[in-house]
Amino acid sequence: TVQAPAAPQRYSFVVASNRLPVDRVIDPDGTARWANSPGGLVTALEPVMRANNGAWVGWAGQPDLQLDPFESDGISIVPVPLTADDIRMYYEGFSNDTLWPLYHDVISHPQYHREWWDSYVQVNRRFADAVAEVSEQGAVVWVQDYQLQLVPRMLREDRPDLTIGFFNHIPFPPYGIYSQLPWRTQIIEGLLGADVIGFQRLADANNFTRAVRRLKGFPTKGATIEVPLIDESVGVRAHGPIPEGKPFRTVIARHFPISIDADSFEEMARRPEIIERARQIREELGNPERIILGVDRLDYTKGIAHRLKAFGELLRDGSMTAGEVTLVQVASPSRERVEAYRQLRDEIELMVGRINGDYGTIGHAPVSYHHTSYPRDEMVALYLAADVMLVTALRDGMNLVAKEYVATRTDDDGVLILSEFAGASDELKRALLVNPHDIDGLKHAILRALHMPRAERRTRMRSLRRRVFEHDVAAWSSAFLAVLTGNGHAESLQA
Ligand code: G6P
Repeated sequence: TVQAPAAPQRYSFVVASNRLPVDRVIDPDGTARWANSPGGLVTALEPVMRANNGAWVGWAGQPDLQLDPFESDGISIVPVPLTADDIRMYYEGFSNDTLWPLYHDVISHPQYHREWWDSYVQVNRRFADAVAEVSEQGAVVWVQDYQLQLVPRMLREDRPDLTIGFFNHIPFPPYGIYSQLPWRTQIIEGLLGADVIGFQRLADANNFTRAVRRLKGFPTKGATIEVPLIDESVGVRAHGPIPEGKPFRTVIARHFPISIDADSFEEMARRPEIIERARQIREELGNPERIILGVDRLDYTKGIAHRLKAFGELLRDGSMTAGEVTLVQVASPSRERVEAYRQLRDEIELMVGRINGDYGTIGHAPVSYHHTSYPRDEMVALYLAADVMLVTALRDGMNLVAKEYVATRTDDDGVLILSEFAGASDELKRALLVNPHDIDGLKHAILRALHMPRAERRTRMRSLRRRVFEHDVAAWSSAFLAVLTGNGHAESLQA
């Protein structure tokens, strides 16, 4: 007997992101398993998911997987399949070789290919359909990040009953840059399908509303955009009769700086075995007087070359020696099939090799370089071992590494050097703020950090910690969801 397929389960709170919070991993022997990718977003949304019958829609990280919805750690997971071609054109192509460099100030040249755009439209449609299928009447939907900017409008057209939020985790560029995009208007229309569009910084929200004025001519007042209900281009096919006196929908575009689960980092930082591991790390490095740490995805937005240049020059100038100071650089592999990332890896590894070759001794390599990603506990031990944390991004939506470092420093010690081009610099004002393009300024900041008196380190770190603990990721998601349910027509969610 043939069984009719079970009707899909429906949910009242649905999150959609390109990547699921769990990754399908294929081991070398061919066996498949699920690995948690426990980002802060999951931690923040987990309680909201449980209290509100929630589900997460996204890609499992491997080509051509047709998977039924399942439960993972109490979260309902709804996988969306991507073919090898989708991965090449929608993910590696349009998302990471067009939008990513364009939205990060064209640090690398964005590639514009029409077939990548077609694939982006197609995959966004697939996500929108998957969300529509599992959302119950009147559900709240929260779409995440630049890979899915067309989903809000597609959803609004099909399901005007939904309350739709969108959050952009990366910067939104100034109009002069954004306007390069051949599909600039379609993206704006896609986003305007949402009730609330969240950004990291005030500047990002302002860049967006300016693009709306330039491309659509819709009136904006502060964070509010009036989208005319008569305008077919912004997903109002199913709006019904236009209310008298208010022939528009209001869309809110505001900043909501994202954060981390600060308590969980602090809790780990207090564990004796992690404190012991931090001591061991220092020892394994040959007990240098000072350890400087960099932790990044290996991405050209992170300014890794700038930091290596400054560090190498300090060794050259004799301002420090290999035995005194070690730079630990963790560079986690990322988007390795995209050409710009391959080139970056070669460039960085050449620089590391040169510095170690020129200034290392038999016992001490000045740069301890690791092309890998470490588990959370090892990261916390590294944070504890680091006297100076170096974040030199050329452009970064937020930079959570900066916040993680601060959260682990229960001893009120350690110095954060932070790029003013990272979103985190709007909040972490007591860090040593730097312009990473200014190599002399960067060198000066590194020396200042290395020699900063204990009392100053303490005052600064205390102020940074206050900010991070008062504005953690739970505060971020509840702030966003409160504005979303206030502007949409949904009941407010259970906390
Ligand atoms: C950034 C983006 C995320 C993305 C992450 C990792 O933080 O904002 O959307 O998931 O990088 O990149 P990947 O391409 O591996 O998902």
